[in-house]
Parts: sequence; C-alpha cells; structure tokens
Amino acid sequence: MDNIKVLINEKRLEKRIKEIAEKIEKDYEGKEIVFIGILKGSVMFMTELAKNIKSDVQFDFMDVSSYEGTESTGTIKVNKDLRDSIEGKDVIIVEDIIDTGRTLTYLLDYLKKKNPKSIRIATMLSKPSRRVLELNVDYIGFSIEDKFVVGYGLDYDEKYRNLPFIGYIEQ
Ligand code: IMP
Ligand code: MG
Repeated sequence: MDNIKVLINEKRLEKRIKEIAEKIEKDYEGKEIVFIGILKGSVMFMTELAKNIKSDVQFDFMDVSSYEGTESTGTIKVNKDLRDSIEGKDVIIVEDIIDTGRTLTYLLDYLKKKNPKSIRIATMLSKPSRRVLELNVDYIGFSIEDKFVVGYGLDYDEKYRNLPFIGYIEQ
C-alpha cells in the first residue's frame, strides 16, 4: 500500500465544487446543459457538480486515450464517442485534471465539429506549470503544483479512484 498524503480534503473539495455549480447555474440561467464527462477520472467531480445545479443537466460520456508514440502531435484515440447529438446544445466538457492540455485541445476541436451552440470546459484540477498547449478553461476547481495526484476519480494504475479526497503518493 502506498503512503497517500491528503492534498485537498473532502470538505474543501465539496465546498469548491458547490461554488462552481453556483457559477454555472448563474452563467446558464436555467438553460438546459449537457455535461460531457471524460471517463473515467471525471465521474465523481461530474456527479458532485451536477447534484448542486438546479437547472436541467444531461449526461453523456467520452473515453479517450493518447496514441502511443505520437504524444507530441496531440492525437487522441476516441475509445467511446458520445451517444447523443450535441448539435445546438450548450455543452460543458467535464474533466478531472488538465496537465499538458493536449487531451482537451484535441477534444474541444473534435466536439466543435459537432456544432454545439456553445462549449465550455470545467476541470476539477489544473497543473498550469505543465501546460504545453494554451487553452481557455472556464471553470477550474483548484490549480495545483506539479505533483502526481490520485483520488476523487483520479487513479494510479487504476487504483485510488474511490478515495474521497485528492491525495498524492509520498515517495
Ligand atoms: P493532458 O492531455 O496532458 O492535459 O492530460 C490530462 C490527462 O492525464 C488527465 O485526464 C488524466 O487522465 C491524466 N493525468 C494528468 N495528471 C495526472 C495526475 O496527477 N494524476 C492522475 N492522472 C493524471
Ligand atoms: Mg483523464
């Protein structure tokens, strides 16, 4: 068992997620929103966010992975695409963490081609010092230093997703 240290505890996480939910509710003023959760890491953040929004929130999911060996091109393989059309919809991509920004830069481009009415990004965490591709992120839970984090959906080799806090592995 690795030694996991708490970086952001459950109380702080939930308080911050509530604040973001309130902001989204105000920004969208009762409009119907489509959340696109990026599997698997975004699941806990997405449900917690959605529970705190009173307007209608629809769920869809995508699963993507980077092509091996072509990291620098930012090409992403779509393992699971959207189930429903997002044409004319107000869409928010919900992500666990933005690191280099490659995944979301690609996804944003990919999803814009499906003609949503609007598209924004909500991420639980961001590591700004690791950014390779600049991108405009509308809702950020916490900006953190360059540490490998787990919990609240995030994994290390598929472990620790169910931790109710954000932690890091003490070396
Ligand atoms: P990006 O394309 O470099 O922004 O990659 C973002 C993806 O890398 C996230 O969706 C995570 O799946 C993964 N990732 C980046 N940093 C971490 C971390 O600290 N812990 C767990 N997964 C991470
Ligand atoms: Mg991810």
